Amino acid sequence: MINCILDFDPGVDDAAALFVMKKAKNLNLLALSSVNGNVSLDHTTRNMQCLAKLLDIDVPMAKGQEVPLVREPFFATVHGNDGMAGFRHMIESDDVKELTSENSVIMMHEIIQNSKEKITIIAVGPLTNIALLLKTFPEDKEKIEQISIMGGSITSGNVTSLSEFNFYVDPEAAKIVFESGVDIIMAGLNITEKANITREQIMLLDTIENRKSKFAHRILDYYLSNDSGIHDPCSVIVLDDPEVFEMEDMYIKIDVQNDETRGMSYRDLRKERNGHYNCKVITEIDIEKFRKILMDAFTE
Ligand code: BDR
Ligand code: CA
Repeated sequence: MINCILDFDPGVDDAAALFVMKKAKNLNLLALSSVNGNVSLDHTTRNMQCLAKLLDIDVPMAKGQEVPLVREPFFATVHGNDGMAGFRHMIESDDVKELTSENSVIMMHEIIQNSKEKITIIAVGPLTNIALLLKTFPEDKEKIEQISIMGGSITSGNVTSLSEFNFYVDPEAAKIVFESGVDIIMAGLNITEKANITREQIMLLDTIENRKSKFAHRILDYYLSNDSGIHDPCSVIVLDDPEVFEMEDMYIKIDVQNDETRGMSYRDLRKERNGHYNCKVITEIDIEKFRKILMDAFTE
């Protein structure tokens, strides 16, 4: 079993990542951590609590950082005002699990230090919490097995022509994480924009008489009319079902300028020629396998 913590900014595709996590065969989820990103921290934290309740996930949950390390918050539009495509009311509940901590960096540190085995972090929002963790507690690095990240791209961006949303929101954090020396798997837009389900599959979800499927239908119907990929589950599936993807070793750097290249990820081919790599980048997806895993997660 892979012991893991999920750090996310739900977000519709973040919600999909949690659905997939719930069904994962080889992943042992230890905690959830929210971060500012798609919507404000208050929304992402509430969404985390409501989703955990919906999916009957009972693990420690903590609130993360409210703003990026250096920049002002920058929100996405494709997830609706509440981050759940306007449908959080479908999963609101008076008895969601309380937060176990107000500071997810401390929570992650304690879990990592108290664990006998190494911990894997899955990070599918801006990397603010993870960068702070690595900077504040550098001793944690040797107890982190790997960080599976959704972010960046080795082709084009989705905020600027070159920059992907999570890295654009907090480029300094992404840079810290990629320079940390911890093993990284990167699911970038080059692959995650292809990771989706069909319109027929979305419609099928509406015909299934269970609350989870109806909710998945509503949020994905809204989201996929604005975004081509269900990005975040890739970072979960690559750990649980690695055969769905192919990966290549690369040396990825992050740009922290203020213009078109803010948060851009790019390859350092000179380093690669000399045999230096800092991450595995997903380069191929078996779309039929991906779709089956998602549909199983949304319907079972
Ligand atoms: C990433 O940005 C967010 O909008 C999604 O949740 C995903 O993590 C894609 O660029
Ligand atoms: Ca996300």
